[in-house]
Amino acid sequence: MTVEWILTPERIYGAMGLVAAYAGMCWGIGSRVRRQRLTDEAQSQVSRGDARAPAVLVAYASQTGQAEALARATAKMLVDGGLQVRLLPVEKLTAELLQEHAHSLWMLSTTGEGDAPDHALGFVRQLKAAQPVLTRHQSLVLALGDREYQEFCAFGVQVHEWLQACGARSDLICVDNMDGPSLQSWRAQVGQMRQGLLGECAPDQELDADWLQAPVSIPFVLRRRRLLNPGSQGGALYLLEWTPQSGELPQWESGDLVSLCVPADPERPRDYSIASVTADGSLQLLVRQSTRADGSPGLASQWLCCGMAEGDVLPLTLREHRGFRLGDNAGRPLILIGNGSGLAGLLSHIRARVQHDCNDQWLLFGERSPRHDAVFGDQLAAWVEQGRLARLDQAWSRNGKDSRYVQDLLRSHAEEVRQWVARGAAIYVSGSLHGMGQGVHLTLQAVLGEAKVAELLGSGRYRRDVY
Ligand SMILES: Cc1cc2nc3c(=O)[nH]c(=O)nc-3n(C[C@H](O)[C@H](O)[C@H](O)COP(=O)(O)OP(=O)(O)OC[C@H]3O[C@@H](n4cnc5c(N)ncnc54)[C@H](O)[C@@H]3O)c2cc1C
Ligand SMILES: Cc1cc2nc3c(=O)[nH]c(=O)nc-3n(C[C@H](O)[C@H](O)[C@H](O)COP(=O)(O)O)c2cc1C
Repeated sequence: MTVEWILTPERIYGAMGLVAAYAGMCWGIGSRVRRQRLTDEAQSQVSRGDARAPAVLVAYASQTGQAEALARATAKMLVDGGLQVRLLPVEKLTAELLQEHAHSLWMLSTTGEGDAPDHALGFVRQLKAAQPVLTRHQSLVLALGDREYQEFCAFGVQVHEWLQACGARSDLICVDNMDGPSLQSWRAQVGQMRQGLLGECAPDQELDADWLQAPVSIPFVLRRRRLLNPGSQGGALYLLEWTPQSGELPQWESGDLVSLCVPADPERPRDYSIASVTADGSLQLLVRQSTRADGSPGLASQWLCCGMAEGDVLPLTLREHRGFRLGDNAGRPLILIGNGSGLAGLLSHIRARVQHDCNDQWLLFGERSPRHDAVFGDQLAAWVEQGRLARLDQAWSRNGKDSRYVQDLLRSHAEEVRQWVARGAAIYVSGSLHGMGQGVHLTLQAVLGEAKVAELLGSGRYRRDVY
């Protein structure tokens, strides 16, 4: 078989943001006569045009945006290939919708430890509770995951098995860290499904071979690198400031990510939360120098913190992180909770809000010791003094008798947390998954009740950027 284009994980990974942005820009602008059109309607996209064309459901569940971008790219490819497409996040699916459509495509990533993405948790409850009859249904599931995790592609597999239990004919493709061969196989199977649907009416042309475009990596110059926690008992934490080699800073939103590859591992990109907003004039990252279980240094963080020099150039790919953006929470009070390098994602939100004179935000932040790890201490104190941060609470885990974690802070301020949520606050959590992320989640459940936490997660008022 001739492979018309070469997919490497690096290319695919970075391409996702571009595909999403490009698709968002292009869809809905005038369509050619024979093409169906995709329009954004709230969170679901519905194809319009020739109602006689067979319709396919395209559903996604995504934590950091890759499955969503793949779903958009797949939907666009199908629409261009002559089909009607209904694209939507899984929580918008109903038994009726599934029964109305004879074909569905699913793009589902796994997060946490074998968990469904946050926005999909309502669907998971629904899935456990109901088993609609889908004996006439054919589905194709693309499960995104990473073999380094014990529960490889667990959520995609769970949905695939549920579809089979409902009587559907379901096929499954598991993707390891966006590996190219699996994505090529996905495109081939989607092509077969389309051929089967259109039969002799299928237009002559093949499905778009360029449905995944090369990533747009922008060469950035490392302008300044500063150690933020000299003397810390924990890993060194650095602030890295970058500007594009071209001089023209691209646009991003608070909450977004940067994806990058380092010379020691050019195939597997790493994500970093952007700590600044465009108005700051530079793209800033907070990078923790990590150590692997065997004591060797983490490849990317080692390169970023010690390998490359100020003035060196590295291609960076900006990735939209819709699940952690302010989105429709922009006007709400914010409870920002995090630890360590997680401050990056929280800082970008505070900076974005300060820029818009929005000061109704409470930061609860955990680090090791007040002596060595009071990172951004002066900036945070200044924001409190200027009334830019309504409230700041810090927890130090290595502080003698006063040692505590950020979840302990939440527990001791339970009443205020309830009051903030009652007046509409959204909750953003950023930092380590183990320890902090899980501890905060359990504490929120204890403080607010499990049902309320599930409701906040489902409605996007509780967002997580934990890793
Ligand atoms: C959404 C998101 C946002 C993030 N934001 C930030 C941020 O703002 N700041 C930040 O510092 N980090 C952030 N990270 C983490 C970051 O992406 C990297 O995972 C981190 O820097 C470690 O990468 P590394 O290359 O240094 O370590 P790696 O070399 O990838 O090693 C890290 C771990 O991977 C395992 N591992 C992988 N390969 C091997 C191997 N061959 N042998 C042994 N063990 C292996 C080990 O468990 C090891 O501890 C974020 C991650 C995500 C997903
Ligand atoms: C915090 C975190 C937890 C993850 N947990 C799992 C897991 O349990 N099983 C798995 O197969 N992949 C896991 N992954 C890998 C993701 O599924 C994979 O990177 C996927 O491409 C992300 O897609 P998304 O951007 O749509 O969320 C995890 C990734 C992260 C960052």
